[in-house]
Amino acid sequence: MPDTELLSLQPDHIGILQSRYEQVLEDQGYDALLISSGAAPMRYGDDQSWHFQGYGPFLHWTGLAGFECAWLLIRKGRKPILSLHQPVDFWHASLELAHEPWLEEFEVRFNETPSAPAADGAGRLAVIGDPSLLADVPGEHNPAELCAALDKTRAHKTPYEIACLAQANRLAMAGHHAARDAFLAGASEFDVNLAYQSATHQREADSPYHSIIGINEHAGTLHYQYYDTAAPKKSRSLLIDAGVRYRGYCSDITRTTAGVGEGRFAALIQGLEQLQFRLCSMVAPGVDYIDIHRKTHLGIAALLGVAGLVSDLSEEDMVAAGITRAFFPHGIGHFLGVQVHDVAGKPAPPPPDAPFLRLMRTLEPGMVVTIEPGLYFIPSLLEPLLSGPLGCHINRPLLDELQGCGGIRIEDNLVVTESGCRNLSREAES
Ligand code: GLY
Ligand code: MN
Ligand code: MN
Repeated sequence: MPDTELLSLQPDHIGILQSRYEQVLEDQGYDALLISSGAAPMRYGDDQSWHFQGYGPFLHWTGLAGFECAWLLIRKGRKPILSLHQPVDFWHASLELAHEPWLEEFEVRFNETPSAPAADGAGRLAVIGDPSLLADVPGEHNPAELCAALDKTRAHKTPYEIACLAQANRLAMAGHHAARDAFLAGASEFDVNLAYQSATHQREADSPYHSIIGINEHAGTLHYQYYDTAAPKKSRSLLIDAGVRYRGYCSDITRTTAGVGEGRFAALIQGLEQLQFRLCSMVAPGVDYIDIHRKTHLGIAALLGVAGLVSDLSEEDMVAAGITRAFFPHGIGHFLGVQVHDVAGKPAPPPPDAPFLRLMRTLEPGMVVTIEPGLYFIPSLLEPLLSGPLGCHINRPLLDELQGCGGIRIEDNLVVTESGCRNLSREAES
């Protein structure tokens, strides 16, 4: 049961959404908006469906991630109508709706069919959601400008959303501790995953994204997606990137642990963590997020120099020559909310020096971001460097020694406040 303080914040959250959405509808010339929660599609050629997780705007209002074929009708000056699908079905159960104060803000209806509630007389109606579910629904489907404007309403989190994100961090951190302990006790990737799931009490399919659990070389694949069921002969490193979904809201945390006797790798983890702390301390209103990304490259360059991996080049030259990109190929982070890579972070395409950056905005209070620097030994990115003119600057024997540890990523979730930031992941760790 959520605490009463969190529950007491939710009606205000809904009030804020009502006014934000009313403003967007007004600006875009609509009178009403119908939101579909979605439904799990069937697997092709099969009678089984994919696991369901709800559509972002529906989660923004309700947090009900598992409710298929539900609908929400928003109108100016009226209580939203929340229509939940409750079929008579002896094969499947219907999800129970907990009796919580936020439901007072809605007119709740139960529908035996998956159809949308009628919106007759609502005026000009927009309908948003998975197009395959909207065929028979009257109204304008997924108007692009309206959808973009609604996405923007998600960039600034309400106090309720921040409380949910903080709790998602606390739950995930318990899983990270259990995962680290399992790894140090010699567990396989599969068993590390079981330890994480057990400590978080979360089915893997319900988590915000597939947990990334890489031991040794696997830690160097950014989104490594398999789990070895056997532990390696020697467990040199663990990278686990895993979150929890709480009332719709996601955490997205990464920790890297060195195995016993891996002093050099442990020192690199420590160096990257110091850098990560410095980058986190940059998070504040008025800061251009791209600047944090660019500072990361300079920090990685310094770390490569101190570790003896790259020599006889200035930090600026290492960045300009693309050396840091080979060790840190992804972006420094992204918005976080009801989607792990939350919307509205890219008002323009990313710049050429940061092609994978998912957030290009100046930070403002209420925004929630990740800060996730990494340093990896990825053969396909390092080989061209080693065999080219820059190869003489790179310490190949040391690289060969560390390659078996795969890589490092350290990722926290931060809220931008009026004066700086709150690090939800470190708060949960202490
Ligand atoms: N877990 C995916 C990411 O960190 O963006
Ligand atoms: Mn992330
Ligand atoms: Mn992550």
